[in-house]
Amino acid sequence: MGKFWNYTNSSNKMSPHMLLISLLSSMVLEVWCQSDCSYQKLLKSLNLENASKVRPVRNWKNASIVNIDLTLYTIVDLDMSTQTATTFVWFYMAWTDEYISWNPGDFCGIKKLFVNSDYFWKPDLYIYEMTENDDNSPEIPYYILRNNGQIINAMPLRIISTCNLNIYKFPFDIQTCKLSFGSFMYTVSDIVMWPKSNSSVVNQNAKDVFASKDEWELQSVAVYNTTHKTMGLEYSQVIYSIYIKRVAVIYVLNLIIPACFLVFLDIASMFIHNYENRLDFKITVVLGFSVMLLILNALLPNSDSTPMLGTFCCICMAMMILSVIGTIATSYMTEKSTTNSQVPVWVKVLVLKHLARIILFKKDFAKEELVTPVTADNNDPENAKKSETNEDVSDQRRALENDSNVKKEVKLLKRILSEILRIHRKLILDMQQKDEQTEWSLVAQIVDRLVLILYLSIVTLVFIIMICVWTI
Ligand SMILES: *[C@@H]1O[C@H](CO)[C@@H](O)[C@H](O)[C@H]1NC(C)=O
Ligand SMILES: *[C@@H]1O[C@H](CO)[C@@H](O)[C@H](O)[C@H]1NC(C)=O
Repeated sequence: MGKFWNYTNSSNKMSPHMLLISLLSSMVLEVWCQSDCSYQKLLKSLNLENASKVRPVRNWKNASIVNIDLTLYTIVDLDMSTQTATTFVWFYMAWTDEYISWNPGDFCGIKKLFVNSDYFWKPDLYIYEMTENDDNSPEIPYYILRNNGQIINAMPLRIISTCNLNIYKFPFDIQTCKLSFGSFMYTVSDIVMWPKSNSSVVNQNAKDVFASKDEWELQSVAVYNTTHKTMGLEYSQVIYSIYIKRVAVIYVLNLIIPACFLVFLDIASMFIHNYENRLDFKITVVLGFSVMLLILNALLPNSDSTPMLGTFCCICMAMMILSVIGTIATSYMTEKSTTNSQVPVWVKVLVLKHLARIILFKKDFAKEELVTPVTADNNDPENAKKSETNEDVSDQRRALENDSNVKKEVKLLKRILSEILRIHRKLILDMQQKDEQTEWSLVAQIVDRLVLILYLSIVTLVFIIMICVWTI
């Protein structure tokens, strides 16, 4: 500028209008010079077109340090069957270009510059768990360039990654999905990945912004850096572990409670006395339960770990089938009891003696045993006749008079007696038959009781195990 003024001062002999022009142009120039606080000027002086496209370090032996930060925004989807997670994160990456720097004082105090990302070398960031290159991530074409040479690349990322699901505790499971950021080409001697914030900060950031979209609830996010060895080479990595918890209410309401109701219903049906009705009822319940199993099957992934819920349903189903078989057996036995067939000896020994004792079966047929056959000694027709005649010896006249009457009475009594004897015989026969019947029905009752006890105890045991597994 000084030069310019010198020039105007030295041209005193110019014509007036030439002087005016030169004065005007000098004023314009001065205004222009003073207001040149533009980014363009900085950009031009940085000469970024010719910036290095190789790793920008002055000594190749020094590694570039890449700072990484991540804020988990949401988990878009966690596909159970393919075991992939789609996450949306806000990603931050910063490194230093040792060839770029400026003094903010020379450029009106500009300390950072938003520049197109094409100018620079950048680390070849790779997410190790990524299964799909997702083009749905929004493109942010700018980097931030600081006056000390730091380049910041912040962008939203939509990441589709594998996530090893452990569904043992389904639907009360907590899953861990890892995102490992590292360079694909540069080894640890070239690029060192470093987390910008520690776990507590990352966790807090994620909790502040996390938007729950699916059935997942954020537990925590942790970060650590490590070196990963493959094929004899070491790569630096920063790993983010995302812990998410399933919102189980839907599964509890739609799957677990109905399944439990069906099991209770099936247990309750053991108290239906008519075995055939019970069989019909049970088959219906089993059908309903198998529909539940179908729904569960559609929900569960093909994981190597078996979910506890599946095992539980399987055991319940097995117990239902067992009780159906038990009911068929008891109904067969009651059928047997109506036809006069003997209970086999081994069944008698096994069921009536041992099983009955084991399951503390009370013999309600004891009363029937007390009823002993009544003997007909006092009702002997001859005795009755004799005593009658002895009584009537003294009063022969009256006896003679009443002879026809007495004969009639005796006849009647005899008939009554024979009738009673017939009834008695039939009664004894009936009781023998009934004994056989009660033996069969007793076996049936014992088997029924055994099945009920087995059913109840196994289901209770499985319930307790389930609750323990889920709560621990
Ligand atoms: C390379 O790193 C060493 C320390 O590891 C440091 O002393 C040196 O200044 C670095 N060189 C350059 C060019 O930055
Ligand atoms: C994490 O970083 C924050 C700030 O950078 C600091 O206040 C806090 O103590 C750190 N926490 C741990 C566990 O190091």
